[in-house]
Amino acid sequence: MMRADSTSSKSIPDAIEQSGYALVQSFLDPAVVAALAQACRDDNATGKLSSAAIGHGDARRLRSDIRGDRTRWFDEAESTLAQSSYWTAMHSLRVRLNRRLMLGLDELEAHYALYAPGARYARHRDAFCDDDARVLSSVLYLNSEWRTDDGGALRLYLTDSVEKYLDIYPEAGTLVLFLSADFEHEVLPATRDRLSIAGWFRRRA
Ligand code: OGA
Ligand code: MN
Repeated sequence: MMRADSTSSKSIPDAIEQSGYALVQSFLDPAVVAALAQACRDDNATGKLSSAAIGHGDARRLRSDIRGDRTRWFDEAESTLAQSSYWTAMHSLRVRLNRRLMLGLDELEAHYALYAPGARYARHRDAFCDDDARVLSSVLYLNSEWRTDDGGALRLYLTDSVEKYLDIYPEAGTLVLFLSADFEHEVLPATRDRLSIAGWFRRRA
């Protein structure tokens, strides 16, 4: 396993240009991250999360052995204060990335994801082969005091000839970004609930 070097929020475009991914700690204010985590837990307790599917169109199906998280899509128009902070930070990141890298990122779609203990997401890529609208994947983690032996790493496979990967632990405030078409990745099972916001910067069709 490789060590993941975290970058400052300012150098995200450089990191993506150089390696196709970026890792940032403390991306949002800890109070905002805590409020997002609480809202995700509340949504779970009130039955607002639903089992996530794999594939799309006719091939869309539930396979909890492959993908075990429960999700709720964000609606920007109905944002809580904490969600607005998330959108604001992500939109300003989008503008900076477009200026520097000409990625043509037009919009963001995002959902809460909760992986209960034992749930996983098998190795996959985020861009669908018949639809390259997803350009850049992001995950913001919401779990305070995550320990390595809690498991639940995001395993990001690097695109070298030799198989190399990074294990990124889902500690509150950590943001990971990677080019959707280029990186296979998987979510390893954890021993406790694992909360996050997955977001995809998209190009309009
Ligand atoms: C996904 C995904 C990674 C993570 O939702 O497509 O790969 O670390 N999530 O939660
Ligand atoms: Mn993914």
